[in-house]
Amino acid sequence: GADAVLHFGTHGSLEFMPGKQMGMSETCYPDSLIGALPNLYYYAANNPSEATIAKRRGYAETISYLTPPAENAGLYKGLKELGELVGSYQQLRESSRGVQIVNAVIETARQCNLDKDVELPEGDASELDLDGRDGVVGAVYRQLMEIESRLLPCGLHTIGKPPTAEEAIATLVNIAALEREEDGLRSLPALLAESKGRTIADVYQGNDDGVLADVELNRVITETSRSAIGAMVKAVTGNDGRVTLRRNFGWFFNLLEQFGFKLPSPWLSACRTAGFPDVDQAELDKLFGYLQFCLEQVCADLEMQSLLKALDGEYVLPGPGGDPIRNPNVLPSGKNLHALDPQAIPTRAAVAAAKVVVDRLIERQKEEQGAWPETIACVLWGTDNIKTYGESLAQILWFIGVKPVPDSLGRVNKLELLSLEELGRPRIDVVVNCSGVFRDLFINQMALIDQGVKMAAEADEPLEMNFVRKHAQEQAAKEGISLRDAATRVFSNASGSYSSNVNLAVENSTWEEENELQEMYLSRKTFAFNADNPGEMNQKREVFESVMKTADVTFQNLDSAEISLTDVSHYFDSDPTKLIQGLRDDGKAPSSYIADTTTANAQVRSLSETIRLDSRTKLLNPKWYEGMLNSGYEGVREVAKRLNFTLGWSATSGAVDNFVYEEANDTFINDPEMRKRLMELNPHSFRRIVGTLLEVNGRGYWETSDENIQQLQEIYQEIEDRIEGVSEG
Ligand code: BEZ
Ligand code: MG
Repeated sequence: GADAVLHFGTHGSLEFMPGKQMGMSETCYPDSLIGALPNLYYYAANNPSEATIAKRRGYAETISYLTPPAENAGLYKGLKELGELVGSYQQLRESSRGVQIVNAVIETARQCNLDKDVELPEGDASELDLDGRDGVVGAVYRQLMEIESRLLPCGLHTIGKPPTAEEAIATLVNIAALEREEDGLRSLPALLAESKGRTIADVYQGNDDGVLADVELNRVITETSRSAIGAMVKAVTGNDGRVTLRRNFGWFFNLLEQFGFKLPSPWLSACRTAGFPDVDQAELDKLFGYLQFCLEQVCADLEMQSLLKALDGEYVLPGPGGDPIRNPNVLPSGKNLHALDPQAIPTRAAVAAAKVVVDRLIERQKEEQGAWPETIACVLWGTDNIKTYGESLAQILWFIGVKPVPDSLGRVNKLELLSLEELGRPRIDVVVNCSGVFRDLFINQMALIDQGVKMAAEADEPLEMNFVRKHAQEQAAKEGISLRDAATRVFSNASGSYSSNVNLAVENSTWEEENELQEMYLSRKTFAFNADNPGEMNQKREVFESVMKTADVTFQNLDSAEISLTDVSHYFDSDPTKLIQGLRDDGKAPSSYIADTTTANAQVRSLSETIRLDSRTKLLNPKWYEGMLNSGYEGVREVAKRLNFTLGWSATSGAVDNFVYEEANDTFINDPEMRKRLMELNPHSFRRIVGTLLEVNGRGYWETSDENIQQLQEIYQEIEDRIEGVSEG
């Protein structure tokens, strides 16, 4: 008797049921289940790929909702102390106190486990000269700033409750940090740097190298962006700001200007007082005009209105899904999501951005391992390619040294082999692990990669300069197959199947040995795409294994601030780190890298660096967990999920440091107040937290004291009793 179905969240039931990928018939489950019922579906604005499948397979009318307002992670506990020490060092670095402070910096950095991210000197700081001391402090400072400025969605989003203007500031700061050439807009950090005679790329480089003065300048630029945007927000919303004033007393301002008095805008004043008197005023005003528009879009409230419209059978305005920071046209939320023309990617901008990241990755690997990587195992997702217009797709093409060539309408269906001279390095082989979602949305792009790999394999070049050819030739000879067949590098699930199911096994603890997880991956994700026969995907497990064996690197791209490695179970689900280690003849673990293109200063970090950054900014960060716990019952579930997904990373990659679990135990178990809160808010999820800690210890991923384990066991029993109602009588 229902008149409509209303779905919430992402990942619905209908779109992953048996049946065709598109063009449903009545024998397909989604079609026969939904019949003629309207399917209204609230979908996260940042998940256009799954939303597209919901529309194709479940006939959904989607209504986008926002992720919670983002905040900067900030600093806490030891990290905060460390920030203060760095501050005093900058005041006193040349005085007699300098050495002492550096010693304190080193000691505190060790306590915060930053020695995993920064090389700290063994001896006393008095053995270092001023440059050496600046170097140590600069490197620590850079790490701190990276943590501090990371964006976090705080708490959970409530439908129909847009962020306040104040809550929109962190998002706007990140919107302002990107160059928008196509809109003729400069980035705010670039304008500030240029007013000091520097380029922002140069400042970022110095920052990344830990040059103290550049880390400081980068921080001041970030702070100034925050205060200038804060001033704009205040002006638009507050009572005393210039913009509201101008609205009410426009005639007066016009009169002043007629007589040659121009009052500086609040954002210009903010930049000037922060030490950037020469910032380009015209460019600044243009940018802030755009930011005011973005502010209105972030705070607009259409989510509920659109639902009511849809229930009335009215039209809901469509709009692109994606990352609101990269593409503010995603805003306002409350729109019927669409993705993009799959043939439009990768765009020129995506190709340029991909090159930077790939070059950094290859350089880092060469520096650390002393040789070029021969094979990179990559993961390709639909969502991030939609959000970035094909950055990760372009990364793969750049590894193998082919260039996408758009036709006159901008459709990318052709490739050109770059010469080895243009490339300046060997062609690097790839194994491309496509998500089921990517396969559904981007089959043409799978064909493009396959063509590119085959072009590279067929290029008559020296084998030490062409690892694609090298591996394909070896394989062809060994298995007696053609070179083209041996050059099979694009894999996914069988049609209609998604994910490796490693996430389900981890979430339900239904596995004993790690190799069971690896077997799941191998049995589900080794279906090969072949552009010579694009109609079918056949399982080619031997080819997959024999090329995965040669992988020295695993790689995935993180595309937006809202979802990172421990936020969803799908990231570790597609991680092949230990799988490769098991396949390799030398049993060596590959280097695992994660590119982070979520901010203007793109980074390539190792997997364990990324997990540490994630843990420090989320699970272990009071700002994050307090934000979650403020959402009550559901918030405890979010904490429990992050911890369980961290276990997932231990299981698939071993890239989780002991301190992450130790500090999680300190934060959520050792503090009696916290225990009480968790128990009261959500005993079931609290039991899951305790259970996960016992599990990571039991599986050998966390070494800790016997007292800690005993305490966990007692608490587990206590919660069981409480849930069963034993102690209530
Ligand atoms: C994707 O967009 O490819 C994707 C979405 C959800 C889970 C895994 C992959
Ligand atoms: Mg999902």
